Amino acid sequence: MHDKGTVAVIGGCGHVGLPLAIVAATHGFETSIVDVNAAAVALVRSGEMPFVEEGADPLLKAALASGRLTATTDAAVVSKADIVVLVIGTPIDEHLTPRPSVILQALAQYRPHFRDGQVLVLRSTVYPGVSAKVQRFFEQEHLDVAVTFCPERIAQGHAIVELASLPQIVSAFSARGLAAAKAFFASFAKSVVVLEPLEAELAKLYSNTYRYVQFATANQFYTIATTYGADYHRIHAAMTHDYPRLAAMPRPGLAAGPCLFKDTMQLSAFSKDQFSLGLAAVWVNEGLPRFLVDQVAKRCELASATVGILGMAFKAETDDIRDSLSYKLKKLLQLEAQRTLCHDPFVRDASFTPLPELIRESDAIVLATPHRAYRDLAIPSDKIVIDVWGIHGSPRAGKQVMS
Ligand SMILES: NC(=O)c1ccc[n+]([C@@H]2O[C@H](COP(=O)([O-])OP(=O)(O)OC[C@H]3O[C@@H](n4cnc5c(N)ncnc54)[C@H](O)[C@@H]3O)[C@@H](O)[C@H]2O)c1
Repeated sequence: MHDKGTVAVIGGCGHVGLPLAIVAATHGFETSIVDVNAAAVALVRSGEMPFVEEGADPLLKAALASGRLTATTDAAVVSKADIVVLVIGTPIDEHLTPRPSVILQALAQYRPHFRDGQVLVLRSTVYPGVSAKVQRFFEQEHLDVAVTFCPERIAQGHAIVELASLPQIVSAFSARGLAAAKAFFASFAKSVVVLEPLEAELAKLYSNTYRYVQFATANQFYTIATTYGADYHRIHAAMTHDYPRLAAMPRPGLAAGPCLFKDTMQLSAFSKDQFSLGLAAVWVNEGLPRFLVDQVAKRCELASATVGILGMAFKAETDDIRDSLSYKLKKLLQLEAQRTLCHDPFVRDASFTPLPELIRESDAIVLATPHRAYRDLAIPSDKIVIDVWGIHGSPRAGKQVMS
């Protein structure tokens, strides 16, 4: 069925690509996922999501059953698509330097399958200027592929809802590309906002970096208050109570995952490493696990203590452990504590400890991920609890402030 056109999503089994492919198929596009991860392709074909994504399971099954969604490792499907979405990972290297070459290498790999008249939607988060390089790549190959850059801004795990509810930023190097990108995203999104490609690249990096800096602010406030024995969660509740100017102020917590740190470093590299605010945020956010270890050490003899970590995923209600600071916390504890135990209700790992056993065995418990399952957990009062997110336990003092 060619209702609205054909779409191929390169990287379509990933956290960004798969929800987008499902949504495109649901809205009438004949959609092919192409991914190098054969195991993920097999899982998707069988109707199973490879990761936790709110609301995705029934839509995936329905899209497969409708025949509008297929998944393959065969790059040749790209040649059948009117719109090719490229949404592979864009990591930084071991020196925290961006690697824009991954995008150009992927394009070289798919070069035999591109043809005149197609539209490329670059959806990965890229180092500024990469879209222009992609445009030059097709010019040099004498291929009439209209290049667009349309960044993804979903909160991971909520893409199905947010693809429809968030405005989509689109940019392009030609009127044909812009018209096609606008039409594609307008078919399921709330609205479309147009920028120039460099502006759109910066808008994406600024969005993530701004969040990262906000989290760092919350984390630094938390460490200052805690160092002086004050309850930051009480302070936060009081500051934000009926005070609109601080309504969006985040709570403290381990700020991690595959995007925020990486994109802050991409912006730092683009600013010729003059991004002092971003680098300060890295220092604060990456330093929080050490601060939490020190909080445990202040209250017990670490060398003879068992410390339990609740939550290994980088964010609540997901199974995604990519760049999770829970693992940094674990490594730091393993240097000093007698034993370190880990638990996560979403992450499968044979080395983890069942929850009742972790609570029983631990002298101290660090709530590292604010999964709902931990909120009302009964933890005996003789255990030390480090609750950086302020989600657990004794009545939050903020309630007293507001009463
Ligand atoms: N995860 C998020 O919440 C999020 C949000 C906004 C933007 N982004 C950006 O989107 C991009 C993708 O992130 P992600 O989290 O989906 O990554 P991911 O690792 O979950 O998915 C990438 C997918 O691409 C596949 N892949 C890699 N190389 C390929 C190739 N040459 N051909 C076909 N498939 C290939 C991988 O197998 C994987 O399935 C990154 O640039 C990221 O910064 C991510």
